[in-house]
Amino acid sequence: MVKGIVLAGGHATRLYPLTKVTNKHLLPVGKIPMIYYPIARLIECGIDDILIVTSRDHMGDIVNLLGSGAELGISFTYKVQDVAGGIAQALGLAETFVGNDSCAVILGDNIFTSSFADDIKDFVLSDSGARIILKSVPDPGRYGVAEVSDDGKTVLNIEEKPSSPKSNLAVTGVYFYDSSVFKMIKTLKPSGRGELEITDVNNGYIKKGCLSSCQYSGEWTDAGTFSSLLYANNLVKNIEIPKVITNIVGKE
Ligand code: G1P
Repeated sequence: MVKGIVLAGGHATRLYPLTKVTNKHLLPVGKIPMIYYPIARLIECGIDDILIVTSRDHMGDIVNLLGSGAELGISFTYKVQDVAGGIAQALGLAETFVGNDSCAVILGDNIFTSSFADDIKDFVLSDSGARIILKSVPDPGRYGVAEVSDDGKTVLNIEEKPSSPKSNLAVTGVYFYDSSVFKMIKTLKPSGRGELEITDVNNGYIKKGCLSSCQYSGEWTDAGTFSSLLYANNLVKNIEIPKVITNIVGKE
């Protein structure tokens, strides 16, 4: 069984003052709050048990929006991230929720224009302990960047926001892990920016020889800056939102 995890913490200071009194993931993208996009992508993978991790400041608003999940036919569980200690630290809070299952982890500000359900199926059927999804981008230095083998099939190393990227392949914000990820997170040390980095988790799986990857053919963006938020709003004009979500959108 695969559990879903949406990471929606952080202070989003890059979007101030839009995020001074609300959570980035509640800002509008198209007709719905941003966080519904990653949730919808998990639901269309058949995942119906989803943990939302967010900061204490905004947990009330997130719960007010999403509730128990009954409206969407799924179940939400919530965990508070007291301090913004990074993506891997937030994921560490999911240990008891995931138990011995696998998990699909997605960042709450990542918008994917098409389903990655087949990649989850491949991951479940494969023996790999972790899988990442790569996307070729014009500005890789903003992301985790994969260095790949000559045949493009194997990820050799990932660098977080490198000044001289070794490829144009960004590591998107959706990750599939087996339950050993929690043991690995406990061994991590904070990075230069004082956070436990998801890139260090993925490099750990590379070292163990059990990280697989695939390339995403749809469009992808995060929405954590003014320009990417605008880009995300334009991107979603052309995508169909799963019916489970459109059912709750108001009529004009
Ligand atoms: C994070 C990850 C980065 C990844 C990106 C995708 O960056 O650290 O590896 O490529 O999400 O959105 P951040 O949003 O913390 O800058």
